[in-house]
Amino acid sequence: MDGKITTKKFSPVDFTSRRDKLHLFRQRALADAVLVGHTTLKRDNVRLGLPVELQELRIKRGQTRSPLRVIVSNEGKIDDRLKIFQSEISPIVIFSTRRMPKKFQTALREKAILHLCKLRDVDLAEMMHTLRNRYQVWTVACEGGPTLFRSLLEHGLVDQLNLTIAPYMFGGARAPTLTGLSNEFLPASVHCSLIDMRVVGDECFLAYRIKRSRRRSS
Ligand SMILES: NC(=O)c1ccc[n+]([C@@H]2O[C@H](COP(=O)([O-])OP(=O)(O)OC[C@H]3O[C@@H](n4cnc5c(N)ncnc54)[C@H](OP(=O)(O)O)[C@@H]3O)[C@@H](O)[C@H]2O)c1
Repeated sequence: MDGKITTKKFSPVDFTSRRDKLHLFRQRALADAVLVGHTTLKRDNVRLGLPVELQELRIKRGQTRSPLRVIVSNEGKIDDRLKIFQSEISPIVIFSTRRMPKKFQTALREKAILHLCKLRDVDLAEMMHTLRNRYQVWTVACEGGPTLFRSLLEHGLVDQLNLTIAPYMFGGARAPTLTGLSNEFLPASVHCSLIDMRVVGDECFLAYRIKRSRRRSS
């Protein structure tokens, strides 16, 4: 309720209901690709898979069984022993930079497709183009975390925000909110319009369309 997206120990999101988790799976199941930032991947150690029923529904809709799994990291020091690399439910694509150390490149190439850009940081707009042109991805479900979400927002790359209000308050000046830990304002306020709201038990499921999605240079 106070906008914090994790608990004191930065633990995985286990404070929401089963219904919320199913809601997340449903959103994931609609997308051609699911996108996650390196820290969330590391901390939550997620596979980014789907329950069988949702896989079957995808097949009926003419989609692949599971969405493409996409990881973003600037430094590229991604541990190839994470759970995501132990499951072959769908291809894994990593967008990183040439800063990725060679030993990580060698290990990760066994398990994923690497796109390493020359810039210091990953160019997120370029990443979206690559996903569309090389992998026929038209819809991306970004599951955070907040640092990645904020970057996508700043680049005008978010169309919709699905937000669950859970019945807890955590406080903590050093605890991330939806847009992370940065004290800086966003380059411009982001206007949203509420397109859906459902209350189930103590939780509220919101969907917002992001109104201003033009790319900004500042
Ligand atoms: N409540 C929720 O729904 C929810 C959802 C997701 C996550 N979380 C929580 O959020 C916490 C993690 O938050 P976070 O903000 O630190 O995580 P994050 O956004 O998942 O990861 C940050 C890292 O991702 C990479 N990254 C982010 N933006 C990038 C960009 N524009 N270009 C290239 N790489 C980029 C960088 O990796 P490198 O350091 O490798 O360069 C960066 O350090 C965890 O505790 C997690 O459980 C909560």
